[in-house]
Amino acid sequence: MIYLDNAATSWPKPESVYTAVSESLRRGGNPGRSNSEKSRLAATDMTEARAVLAQLFHIADPNRIVFALNATDAINLGLQGMLKPGDHVITSQIEHNAVTRPLAYLEDAGVHVTKVSTDPVKGADLNEIRAAICPETKLVIMSHASNVTGTLNPIEEIGAICREAGVPFMVDAAQSAGAVPIDVVKMNIDLLAFPGHKSLLGPTGTGGLYVSETVSPHPIRSGGTGVFSEVRLQPEQLPYYYEAGTQNAVGLAGLCAGTRYILERSVSGIYHEEQQMLQHLIDGLAAIPGVVIYGPLTSPRAAAVSFNIEGMDCADVAMILETYYDISVRSGLQCAPDTHRMLGTFDLGGTVRVSPGLFTTKEEIDTFLSAVSEIAQGD
Ligand code: ALA
Repeated sequence: MIYLDNAATSWPKPESVYTAVSESLRRGGNPGRSNSEKSRLAATDMTEARAVLAQLFHIADPNRIVFALNATDAINLGLQGMLKPGDHVITSQIEHNAVTRPLAYLEDAGVHVTKVSTDPVKGADLNEIRAAICPETKLVIMSHASNVTGTLNPIEEIGAICREAGVPFMVDAAQSAGAVPIDVVKMNIDLLAFPGHKSLLGPTGTGGLYVSETVSPHPIRSGGTGVFSEVRLQPEQLPYYYEAGTQNAVGLAGLCAGTRYILERSVSGIYHEEQQMLQHLIDGLAAIPGVVIYGPLTSPRAAAVSFNIEGMDCADVAMILETYYDISVRSGLQCAPDTHRMLGTFDLGGTVRVSPGLFTTKEEIDTFLSAVSEIAQGD
């Protein structure tokens, strides 16, 4: 089987991730809930996970990383915690439903949402962002990378605009964390939402939100924290302010191992290797008659490439790849209808999305390209 659906979730994981998950589950322990060795070791795993993630994203205080179920959960905390009726928020046209749906609920509750024009290659329009900022603007939220086309939003430039205007900046790093270098200081990021199960190579059910000292979203969950139990509301110390109930200690042990693996190989090294693999993939697809590619055709980009074969339904192409070639990709709208409206692929039912990962080989890409070529020729 050739797995080219890493934008959905990465597979396989490094051996160290499987080992860490198994050891944590076998050992047991509820982090921070007792003085037993099991409980202490589970808490240590979480502390180490925060430490390696802080190192990866250049975060000075690891306790400002709050664990969540996934990037969507982290985004919900950031958006619901930061915005109230009457506020204004700016976003792009390449957002996943993880951003657009929480924003739609907020819009219905009286938050004003501006979606700035977004170019499939260059990302969100900087001039439109500058022009849209007004006194009511309480947040700018942008995906770092499109999950459909791999388009990178100009995060560093947007961060600079936000800093100058005094508007908090939140980044959805679902398709970039672990694959594209991120520096929250250099990029002026106040809130960074990331999943654990994609390019950070951890298990599903993990993710988090970095909350800088400059912002204080209202918690959207409350409950036990294992400490400060006498306090009526959530203790305001981080991470407890936002982490209620027993955390996913087993998953976070795996996320810690995955992040360590990334740090050992270095994100910039991974990024440069992936750019070469992606160029090989895109050049190969572009050479197949009848194939239309959407988004950037050259570096820089993230590892999601969308295409269609003229005259064919994207779902059929994906089904043929899966059934006859044992190649996994994702077709359809990929939970990002705005992106497909922007690309003009909404009425086509979307695209075929191919997303190589850290362990994808050039031979696997070549096999995939041969399969697409055969399908395009109607063989
Ligand atoms: N957001 C993930 C994807 O794009 C699940 O496939």
